[in-house]
Amino acid sequence: MKIRAALLEEFGQPLEVQEVDLAEPKAGEVLVRLVACGVCHTDLYTASGADPSGYSPTVLGHEGAGVVERVGESVASVAPGDHVVTLFSPQCRECVHCLDPRTNLCLAIREQQNQGFLPDGTTRLSRDGEPIRHFMGTSTFAEYTVMPEIALAKIAPEAPLDHACVFACGLSTGLGAALNTAKVEPGSTCVVFGAGLVGLGAVVGCRLSAADRIVCVDPAEQRLELARAQGATHTLTGGPETVEQILELTGGFGADYTFEATGLVDVMRQAVESARMGWGLATVCGVAGRGETLDVVPRFLITGRRVAGSSFGGVKGRDQVPQLVDRYLAGDIDVDAFVSHKLTLDDVNRGFELMEAQDGIRSVIEFG
Ligand SMILES: NC(=O)c1ccc[n+]([C@@H]2O[C@H](COP(=O)([O-])OP(=O)(O)OC[C@H]3O[C@@H](n4cnc5c(N)ncnc54)[C@H](O)[C@@H]3O)[C@@H](O)[C@H]2O)c1
Ligand SMILES: [Zn+2]
Ligand SMILES: [Zn+2]
Repeated sequence: MKIRAALLEEFGQPLEVQEVDLAEPKAGEVLVRLVACGVCHTDLYTASGADPSGYSPTVLGHEGAGVVERVGESVASVAPGDHVVTLFSPQCRECVHCLDPRTNLCLAIREQQNQGFLPDGTTRLSRDGEPIRHFMGTSTFAEYTVMPEIALAKIAPEAPLDHACVFACGLSTGLGAALNTAKVEPGSTCVVFGAGLVGLGAVVGCRLSAADRIVCVDPAEQRLELARAQGATHTLTGGPETVEQILELTGGFGADYTFEATGLVDVMRQAVESARMGWGLATVCGVAGRGETLDVVPRFLITGRRVAGSSFGGVKGRDQVPQLVDRYLAGDIDVDAFVSHKLTLDDVNRGFELMEAQDGIRSVIEFG
């Protein structure tokens, strides 16, 4: 079929909305009609050429939500009409990682997905007979996409898809960092560095965990206001003195849990240094620049601080994204505050501009 999609043709250039061909789903694959898709940093990171593993041409987009249109042979977990959230982090439920509660890093299709192929090593996207590679296994800046069944989370049909899409990446990443990776305990003191969608998600996750104090750090005052509305009890504007300020707030000890959601290695270091002696856990969510390293004085670790990384918030997507969406439907999670702009597919580059200007938290593309 012919579909319209936003193509990355050349790094550093605007995406081009074009007509491309999409083949029917093969065994284990699903054709999804996209209804909404968030514009995330990783899309911009790849489009800019900064990602060393990036390739072109490709159809970007990974924060998608839509409706199953058709399924390939042997697909059993979703059926036409089901509402789904796309997962760049799949869950096969069979590999050694899927069977272990300690990680969400499914091994089933990693290599093919990283190279832009579906699990059988081919693409369903093409133009004039030339294959076009998929992006993050999702390619959701498009009217339709074909994805592996194991990369789709079936969600409650009553969840509005223009809100559900943010659970495909940023929001689940922040929520999961607090709920899964750190497993924040009631009554604890938490610090969240960064109040973008990931950091705000972590603030919400800390609140849902009944944390006593939630400190949010961000230079952007507007974002701190959002953080307070989501449950932050203290806010700081960030800078070299942040660790000192957190120590002051915590009787000199530091916080039980800290979360980094900025992608800045200096802030990651602050997250480690402001974690509590004895048991403080620093959870790193941000994606650092190519070649950058995290500098930690070993004494911080010997005296009991720990560091954890969190990809997609440790969320096992097919099992847990539907649960998070249910919590949103139950009123525990306020998604409205995070969807700042609605765009059409043709305006996708405007989504990047708004992101670069820090205008709003998320821009969501709606498909007509
Ligand atoms: N681990 C994952 O699976 C995953 C998934 C999605 C995004 N990410 C990464 O998470 C990070 C955050 O994503 P986002 O969408 O929320 O980004 P964002 O740019 O919207 O938010 C980052 C925030 O950090 C703030 N900031 C800048 N300097 C700061 C400082 N010194 N102290 C405190 N805050 C500071 C900025 O003002 C901004 O509000 C990015 O690095 C992104 O690539 C990771
Ligand atoms: Zn797996
Ligand atoms: Zn993302």
